[in-house]
Amino acid sequence: MVKPRVFVARIIAQEALDLIAKSTEMEVWQEELPPAYEVLVEKTRAAEGLLTLLSDNVDAALMDAAPKLKVVSNMAVGYDNINIAEATKHHIVVGNTPGVLTETTADFAFALLMAAARRVVEAGNYTRKGQWKTWAPKVLLGQDIHHATLGIIGLGRVGVEVAKRAKGFNMKVLYYDEIKRSEEEEKQLGIEYTSELANLLSSADFISIHVPLLPHTRHLIGATEFAMMKPTAVLINTSRGPVVDQKALYEALKSRQIFSAAIDVTEVEPISPDDLLLTLDSVIVAPHIASASFTTREKMALMAAENLLAGLRGETPPNCVNPEVPRD
Ligand code: DGY
Repeated sequence: MVKPRVFVARIIAQEALDLIAKSTEMEVWQEELPPAYEVLVEKTRAAEGLLTLLSDNVDAALMDAAPKLKVVSNMAVGYDNINIAEATKHHIVVGNTPGVLTETTADFAFALLMAAARRVVEAGNYTRKGQWKTWAPKVLLGQDIHHATLGIIGLGRVGVEVAKRAKGFNMKVLYYDEIKRSEEEEKQLGIEYTSELANLLSSADFISIHVPLLPHTRHLIGATEFAMMKPTAVLINTSRGPVVDQKALYEALKSRQIFSAAIDVTEVEPISPDDLLLTLDSVIVAPHIASASFTTREKMALMAAENLLAGLRGETPPNCVNPEVPRD
């Protein structure tokens, strides 16, 4: 029997590659950097399955050029790199990896929150540069986390886990979510809902973003929103870079409109090392690693492999973002 051809756009966990290799004719992109778009199109042309990362652009033109393509499996929970409407039109099922990375991502969001509040990165650099001369009453002062108010924008899986962590620090948690209000979760977690984003922005000491990138969440936080925040506010973004207007973030930090920020995602990834944002001590910019624990990345790879194989068998993948695509 002829095995289906698949292209795996990066080296992922060996266990996942072994699983895929058993029943397919697999090609794996061996480079550290993603294949250029034109290369991805070429590699996908004859493939029935494609395993991508969030840095791979799967658009209509790529799908037009790949008549045999049945499944795109994204090794990420977010799938804004894939044109889902076009995939559905082409009868291509798209898989993602929800659930397995939720707590790991929430851990990292909280790590960023704490690091930005207490200036952990700046303090480490201060020591390395030999600036530590004595115990000083006014050096590297930060913001208290305990008993502060955390505003969560988007109470999805990660938002809920961040709320749980915050309660362990005796924080007051306020959330805003444009699609759901869950009174049950409010009771269970001891958190409060606000129907006004402006209310959250003006009353929170910490603001953590957990919304997907959609046309209406692009630049959800911009100059107007920064102007509403407290001068002591700390912004955390582990969702998608374009949700925050990065120029406005730079201005807000530079003019000390807010205290600090810690972001795991940037408008363009990777951010240029020459970006003005990186000249500021009051921001931590991590290279999109919120889900990067050994265990979680392995689980994500396996889940992506299983989605891919199910799609190739003509089934709806166990984690599918367009299950309406008709299957064999
Ligand atoms: C995702 O899965 O969407 C994260 O951004 C990367 O783990």
